[in-house]
Amino acid sequence: MTTETEFYPVPAEWAAKAHMDRAGYEAARVAAQAAPDAFWAEAAKRLDWVKAPTKIKDVSFAKDDFHIHWFADGVLNVAYNCIDRHLAERADQTAIIFEGDDPSVSGAITYAELHAQVCRMANVLKNLGVRKGDRVTIYLPMIPAAAVAMLACARIGAIHSVVFGGFSPDSIAGRIEDCGSTVVITADEGLRAGKRIPLKANVDEALTKVSVDKVLVIAHTGADVPIVEGRDVRFEEAVKTVADDCPCEPMNAEDPLFILYTSGSTGKPKGVMHTTGGYLFWASYTHELVFDYRPGEVFWCTADVGWVTGHSYVVYGALANAATTLMFEGVPNYPDNGRFWSVVDKHQVEIFYTAPTALRALMRDGDAPVKRSSRKSLRLLGSVGEPINPEAWRWYHEVVGEGRLPIVDTWWQTETGGILVSPLPGATDLKPGSATKPLPGVELELVDADGKVLEGPNSGNLVITDSWPGQMRGVWGDDQRFFDTYFSAYPGKYFTGDGCRRDEDGYYWITGRVDDVINVSGHRMGTAEVESALVLHDDVAEAAVVGFPHDIKGQGIYAFVTLNAGVTPSDELRKALIAQVRHEIGPIAAPDAIQFAPGLPKTRSGKIMRRILRKIAENDLGSLGDTSTLADPGVVEDLVKNRVG
Ligand code: PRX
Repeated sequence: MTTETEFYPVPAEWAAKAHMDRAGYEAARVAAQAAPDAFWAEAAKRLDWVKAPTKIKDVSFAKDDFHIHWFADGVLNVAYNCIDRHLAERADQTAIIFEGDDPSVSGAITYAELHAQVCRMANVLKNLGVRKGDRVTIYLPMIPAAAVAMLACARIGAIHSVVFGGFSPDSIAGRIEDCGSTVVITADEGLRAGKRIPLKANVDEALTKVSVDKVLVIAHTGADVPIVEGRDVRFEEAVKTVADDCPCEPMNAEDPLFILYTSGSTGKPKGVMHTTGGYLFWASYTHELVFDYRPGEVFWCTADVGWVTGHSYVVYGALANAATTLMFEGVPNYPDNGRFWSVVDKHQVEIFYTAPTALRALMRDGDAPVKRSSRKSLRLLGSVGEPINPEAWRWYHEVVGEGRLPIVDTWWQTETGGILVSPLPGATDLKPGSATKPLPGVELELVDADGKVLEGPNSGNLVITDSWPGQMRGVWGDDQRFFDTYFSAYPGKYFTGDGCRRDEDGYYWITGRVDDVINVSGHRMGTAEVESALVLHDDVAEAAVVGFPHDIKGQGIYAFVTLNAGVTPSDELRKALIAQVRHEIGPIAAPDAIQFAPGLPKTRSGKIMRRILRKIAENDLGSLGDTSTLADPGVVEDLVKNRVG
């Protein structure tokens, strides 16, 4: 069956009750286009402002006048919006539910408790010398303290840079150095599937390469970790002497809120910078619209706060909307592969938002682990991070959702701050595998390689022709890189890096990255980063990395490695290279396949022809294309013969 014509209509009760129905969606799209200032000024009233903005949208993507400002004269505080303003009515409502890696460990924090915890952490940070505008690196497990640390920074106007707990010491060091953090917040250890993750030890190793003033160490597992005199501070000690209250720093809407590093096609990961007003507005607006959210509902986004999905939908968007947000430290298959669904029942989760890679892995284990749970509390399902294949979509819909729950397939990026393309459950008929249509105010186009706009049903590169409030405002410390990466390929437009198809009904189908970025289990990895890690090994002369289709991960990492003269290929060396990448970047970057290649296909000017490597990795050997322009066409034969996997 072709999925393009397979519609799942909006259920009648959703059309009747949702925040936005079809007519509302059409009207909002027209209004946002016709009078953006009036539309967004009205919408921005959802936030509490110290000073409401009078300037709304001030944007130009043009090279000679490049600037992006939203709500530029507005003043507000993010922590106030996520906590304080809810206290009058919701002090005793649960703000955060914690579900530990160990199923016997769980807890809950009310908004009143969250307020006190954030204030205390903010006061501790102040005592460590953190001031407005300073950068703070956060390297924590998925525990409430991570949200508390982010909000404590926001409260005092410090800029946080959260580093995913799966990243290596080298990756931490690179990120600390790039943004010049003065303080790191970490924990003794994290837990994942019963294994201990040595977070503090990783920070210690990172700090042999760069230095910071202070390391704040939170006790989580209680492990006995070394404390460096004068540098390390135990949170439990420091918090004893601080007050339970801390004023909110009034911030300009355009003041930075956070930096989050993400991989691109070239170079090191870049520090995507988001601001206070536009970002918080977008996270909150999209959380309400897309998930049709009502305050107090139990919302579970399974992403780690180390990724943008965790920033926007575990923490900021959810808490700005007075949510009860669930933080889960563990993994979907521990202690068994029914864990997600038993957590749904245990905490009566109403909205569940996860990644296709997790669904594909669970789907492989059949329906029984799902059917052991009731899932009666659920009313909406969501997907994010990579294209969801129609088979996984149908399984999610039919088995997890028992055919009764709409699925919102949300397309967005670290750079976009929040969701840009998604069905609205009360307004959009669904098609399995399509993120459907842009939200109000989001203007998409498909263009060909030369920038020619493609009309009607067509395939091309996805660009966005106008700004939205949640758009990133810069690459930390590198304005030129910001412009060059996103605005130079198609002048006057934001280039997403994604390929996309638009069908007869105007529905969008994201086909994946068109640049040298691989999407592994919904996480972005730059091929250049993996190559750099591989060539650090003494035996390696050269490496080229490409993605290939992977049943569970979406894309896997395939590395072609040329060894130095005289080095003999071996399985030990293969293992050593994988270990090397894990050590340099982290386990998520570990290659799935390594092929030793005496030579790589290069043009006469020395450029590696990745198109050919991709075809070999994909085992699509019939369409290698023209190899006659290669400096040495003979290398292809060897590559094909020795393909691995
Ligand atoms: O290729 C798209 C894919 O993930 C990329 C963004 O990755 P990242 O910045 O890590 O953010 C992930 C979470 C928002 C995009 O360029 N992507 C994300 N969501 C979808 C998707 N591809 C298809 N469908 C989606 N729903």
